[in-house]
Amino acid sequence: MPEPLSFQAPKGTRDVLPPESGRWRALVDVFAELAEAIGYGEVVSPMFEDIGVFARIGENTEIVGKEMYEFRDRDDRHLALRPELTASICRAFAQHRPPMPWKIWYQGPLFRYEKPQAGRYRQFTQLGAEVLGTEDPHADVEIIALARRFYDALGLRQVRLDLNSLGDATCRPAYLDALTSYLAAHEGELSEQSRATLAANPLRVLDSKREADLPVIAAAPLMVDFLTSEPAAHFQAVCDGLAALGIDYRISPRLVRGLDYYTMTTFEFAADALDTAQNAVGGGGRYDGLVEDLGGPPTPGIGFALGIERILLACDAEGVFDGPSGEPDVFVVDLTGGREALRLTTELAAAGLRVDRAFDDRSAKAQMRAANRSGARLAAIVGDAEVDAATVEVKDLESGDQTTVARADLAEHLRRVVT
Ligand code: HAM
Repeated sequence: MPEPLSFQAPKGTRDVLPPESGRWRALVDVFAELAEAIGYGEVVSPMFEDIGVFARIGENTEIVGKEMYEFRDRDDRHLALRPELTASICRAFAQHRPPMPWKIWYQGPLFRYEKPQAGRYRQFTQLGAEVLGTEDPHADVEIIALARRFYDALGLRQVRLDLNSLGDATCRPAYLDALTSYLAAHEGELSEQSRATLAANPLRVLDSKREADLPVIAAAPLMVDFLTSEPAAHFQAVCDGLAALGIDYRISPRLVRGLDYYTMTTFEFAADALDTAQNAVGGGGRYDGLVEDLGGPPTPGIGFALGIERILLACDAEGVFDGPSGEPDVFVVDLTGGREALRLTTELAAAGLRVDRAFDDRSAKAQMRAANRSGARLAAIVGDAEVDAATVEVKDLESGDQTTVARADLAEHLRRVVT
């Protein structure tokens, strides 16, 4: 006999089962409501794209260099499972040319071949929002405020906002020169990994958390000191806008993000309730050259993405946002062999109640046990006598009280009790 097959979800992926899946959907609903209230519409884009769409994330970034799930399809097209959504959104913008400003939100799975650990997965899910077609600093503020409002709506109290500006083409080259000379002069003090990063992308050395690198990074030149007048004024306007809305932030001049397309405003949200290695619960910024690089007209853009799995971990750590219980309002206990349960569950669900039942013509006792286990507030018990009298016995599973209710009034009666 061959061994029976046994499979596990692939490493770095997770099954989301009820009731957690209900909490998950409730979280997406909170986000959708906040985003749609200020004019953002949902975009659903493909989970795989031509691999070229992701080139501007940066050949030397971890995401593109080491983590992309790439493959060739049967017609030898070179494709990749999307490792992030901003590039896909810019590709969609370049393709469809919608009216601007284009304000959109999205949700969906992303794929990165990372080393899995708590809060770091190979398939994870983001919620995000993007605004394409405006350089207005108020768009930056609107985007950041949307993310902030979302964390607040979940009840999270320990999420910090770090803010930086990475400048633009008028100031970045001078800064990169200064940074590169400084890091080259201190190369011997850097970790081996940072020496390799230095050759490929000096800016990303600032992102190192390795002990050896910290003193060198602490004294490195800062982008904010190199901002020319326009990017400096833009950054100031973003800071002023956040202050006007009462949004706390910390300027983090060494904040660089793990993707290369950023210009000007960049930001990250960190959850203090999580371990520092996985405490980034969201991040984003401006990417004013990305649409053009993907074949569209020069179009500024700003947005963010937030990791759902990490946000839920932060909610667990802070003891907030339990999500809906997923429990039925009423459990039908049927002593007629199942016929009445079929009718009653259909009728009650149509009347807007959450309803469940047992199968397999179980004994009254077994059905009552199932009713209690389901978490339902009420049991609707129906046997031949109730059918003859056109009534139903309604038992309150918390108090044990039982009442006889006319079948015609049942839905109304149950609704009154559960709301
Ligand atoms: P990102 O910083 O790479 O940015 O990812 C955003 C968020 O996704 C992170 O802050 C984190 O919460 C979550 N995340 C990232 N990788 C993982 C993982 N392996 N497991 C679990 N969660 C993860 C972007 O993706 C940009 N597209 C954001 C953006 C939008 N920039 C402008 N617009």
